[in-house]
Amino acid sequence: MLVLVTGGAGFIGSHTCVELLNNGYDVIVVDNLSNSKRDVIDKIEKITSKKVKFYEIDLCDKEKLRDVFKKDRIDAVIHFAGYKAVGESVKEPLKYYRNNLDSTLTLLEVMKEFSCHNLVFSSSATVYGVPRKLPIKEDFPLKTTNPYGTTKLMIEEILKDVSKADLEMSIIVLRYFNPIGAHESGLLGEDPNGIPNNLMPYILKVAFNELPVLNIFGNDYETKDGTGVRDYIHVVDLAKGHIKALEKITTKKGIDYYNLGTGNGYSVLDIVNTFEKVNNVKINKRFVARRDGDIASCYADPTKAFKELGFKAEFGIEKMCYDAYNYVVKNTSK
Ligand code: WQD
Repeated sequence: MLVLVTGGAGFIGSHTCVELLNNGYDVIVVDNLSNSKRDVIDKIEKITSKKVKFYEIDLCDKEKLRDVFKKDRIDAVIHFAGYKAVGESVKEPLKYYRNNLDSTLTLLEVMKEFSCHNLVFSSSATVYGVPRKLPIKEDFPLKTTNPYGTTKLMIEEILKDVSKADLEMSIIVLRYFNPIGAHESGLLGEDPNGIPNNLMPYILKVAFNELPVLNIFGNDYETKDGTGVRDYIHVVDLAKGHIKALEKITTKKGIDYYNLGTGNGYSVLDIVNTFEKVNNVKINKRFVARRDGDIASCYADPTKAFKELGFKAEFGIEKMCYDAYNYVVKNTSK
């Protein structure tokens, strides 16, 4: 089965390509490298000893995307490509709406033209907004609080309409919670340019003295230690969830939605303390004001993915913290 992975040079996309290849799928990657590096493809090939076809194209370039579909019979698409920084989306909403929606619409039009009916879409727990209770189930109300999340929600709506209009379509929407960690080889991981928005990349910058201190956004939340609680899931577990989704997609038409989380909520201090312990490092930290838009707690009810996809995350926060640190140790000259 030939799978086209959009954004396959990115953090989650690259880990998913490894799992696809390890499970006998053939892989084509399209990526414009706006938030990733070309050598990631080489690392995917090194880890798996398998070849990947790579096209450096922007999904919004319809003719170039059509050329990819002309060359090979693509059986399914996993769509990761898109801008994903919440803070940046607030400052530059039009950039997010234009890119994330345009690229998806172009992809869907080309898939239709070439009769490619199978799609796994990378969505986010952010579509739930502030949950009315916990853990979060897939049928909870959807209400976003930032343009990035709204692009994900709008794409979910587009996919719903597409699946109603084209009964041949089989679509699975995966709503990720907080992916962290890295491939155990240390060849793949998350190492964003500039000052990171997310917790784990920020901790790593402090651990390697690239930033002086971790600002913990709020210690007055209604949580066990006052700091924010999230459902952290190992990126390799997340990648494996996509394999399960692909297996499901060939068995039924229509659209369905699944949370990809562990079902466990951990606080910022849980993560920092675990990171220090497993890596024998000290993280300089301080408590500061809450970050606008943050919620106190967010974690998944993973039951539906377990029952219907056979997916269950297996790695704990110790391995997430160890693998995240190991990537930076092994993959950079720090
Ligand atoms: C986690 C916790 C912060 C940084 C975002 C997106 C979501 C998804 C995952 C794409 C919170 C605290 C963080 C820091 C801190 N991305 N924190 N200091 O906000 O849960 O989710 O990333 O799909 O869509 O919204 O992740 O890692 O930014 O924050 O104290 O320097 O760490 O307050 O409690 P978040 P995060």
